[in-house]
Amino acid sequence: MCGIVGYIGWRDAAPVIVEGLKNLEYRGYDSFGVATGTDSITVAKRKGRISEQAECVAGCSGTRGIGHTRWATHGLPDDINAHPHTDCTGQFAIVHNGIIENYAELRRELEGRGHRFSSQTDSEVIAHLIEESWQGDFSAAVRSILPQLEGSYAILALCAGSDEIIAARERSPLVIGLGDDEFFASSDATPIVSYTRDILILEDGDMAVIRRGSLEVENGGVATVRQTTYVDYDIEAARKGGFEHFMLKEIFEQPDVFQQSFRLANGHNSTSMLLRRARGISVIACGTSYNASLLFRYFAEKECGVPVRVDLASEYRYLSTPEDEVVIAVSQSGETADTLSALKKAKDSNCQTIAITNVQGSSITRIADHTIYTGAGPEMSVAATKSYIAQVAAFSGLLAGMSCSDTSSVECSVRQAIEESLLTDVSEAVSLCSKVSTLFYVGRGIFYPVALEGALKMKEISYIHAEGYAAGEIKHGPFALLSKETPAVAVCLPGDGYQSMLANLREMKARGTPLIGIGYGDDIDLKEVADVCIPVPKGDAYAQVAAVTVVMQRIAYYTALALGRDIDKPRNLAKSVTVE
Ligand code: F6R
Repeated sequence: MCGIVGYIGWRDAAPVIVEGLKNLEYRGYDSFGVATGTDSITVAKRKGRISEQAECVAGCSGTRGIGHTRWATHGLPDDINAHPHTDCTGQFAIVHNGIIENYAELRRELEGRGHRFSSQTDSEVIAHLIEESWQGDFSAAVRSILPQLEGSYAILALCAGSDEIIAARERSPLVIGLGDDEFFASSDATPIVSYTRDILILEDGDMAVIRRGSLEVENGGVATVRQTTYVDYDIEAARKGGFEHFMLKEIFEQPDVFQQSFRLANGHNSTSMLLRRARGISVIACGTSYNASLLFRYFAEKECGVPVRVDLASEYRYLSTPEDEVVIAVSQSGETADTLSALKKAKDSNCQTIAITNVQGSSITRIADHTIYTGAGPEMSVAATKSYIAQVAAFSGLLAGMSCSDTSSVECSVRQAIEESLLTDVSEAVSLCSKVSTLFYVGRGIFYPVALEGALKMKEISYIHAEGYAAGEIKHGPFALLSKETPAVAVCLPGDGYQSMLANLREMKARGTPLIGIGYGDDIDLKEVADVCIPVPKGDAYAQVAAVTVVMQRIAYYTALALGRDIDKPRNLAKSVTVE
């Protein structure tokens, strides 16, 4: 994880880097740092968030610099472990995103040769290796050490006395923005788009030598040309627009996001055809994207009769991969390391691969045979909301394409369901949830994945322990936990399993569990059993899913707000999980 930014040109580098790092805080925010300079290097770094203490880099001057915002993997999140890291002499400074897997061995060897380390990070070895290899040529020194690094990295390096920034990439994203007599380097395009939309995406094994007036890219020591991509990015979408938090703003964007994403996917006729002809379909994803994929399974099997296997990307490597399957990898960021590894495994097994992602030009798009973009726009809150709805929409658009069904009614019913659910009163549920330390979320059929997603949202932003369960499973163990202190948020809507769901709720009620029922407003059976009823509008299955999702997102949001949590940047999390 972590985000890195570099600048070389005619502007004061530090403010450009600071603003850039603020945009990358979704990748980690436990410490930050900046290094600038030409003849000598100045480093400023500190524990905490750059958005709250940017003044600490005031001493960094010059028109060339690098910066980092960290999500700790090796070593505590403190001032010392913050990047940039320097060598013993202070001549070289580096920032690094990724993990150097053989760092312990490299560090032992370097220490044996007299190097003294300041931090506990894996990254610091890079600065010491460069120092050791330097014979007056900065790019030659970096080039010579890269083969020693095992693992993943996006690196930016500075050398006192040199007019270059060196960038190198292996399994961690790194892009370069081409400005007017200036260059920007970053983990993604977000920090760059307000200066230039012309972006060059580095590939694995690339090293770039960046000077104010020139950019040279090489791979394995051989000069390489990488195409420039024009990035279409809505800067307004990356601002709060009057909302207190990005998360709330993004929840409110969902009516448009569903429609946009549904249409984008529905237009992919060749991909729908590929899926229709598939002997088997597998879906791989993590977290919220996994929950959206699980939902796809229910809909695909019911609507198109196609068997679908859904696996957690982090477990996929331990499982068999049938050849000739179509494998769909789902990732909002397109950079999740587990999903990328699983996708590569599927490709190696000769599967046809499809990526569903929200980020143009992300790593996943360069691995998959086909890409479907979701139309969520930039999602700034760490907790995924609109990108989940976008994934659900993409799947429903694909399924409509597979079954050649009429699409207008889905778009219309879902929009209406989301719009109404944005206004539903959830205050009673919030007051109940904010007083407890454990919650259950239960549902059957299509509402089981929705319950998983509801629980995930609650735990990540409110820090209340919340577990999603298939309602039928809850008596196979979790019943032992039920009490007056363990409320359950239960989805109980007419359709498959409705009567069984009511029975499950009565069983839970008999154990004293307070119930927050999400169902139709005129459902007297639900009203009888639930302590709090939250009505959702009547509609088709997709509308029901969307409405319940929005209600659950809002319960989580307002509970976290009541508890004074850091909603857009929950503790210990990062939006883009680029380590396995
Ligand atoms: C939860 C959340 C995470 C992500 C997961 C996968 O709100 O955002 O669970 O869904 O880290 O990320 P992507 O979709 O970028 O692969």
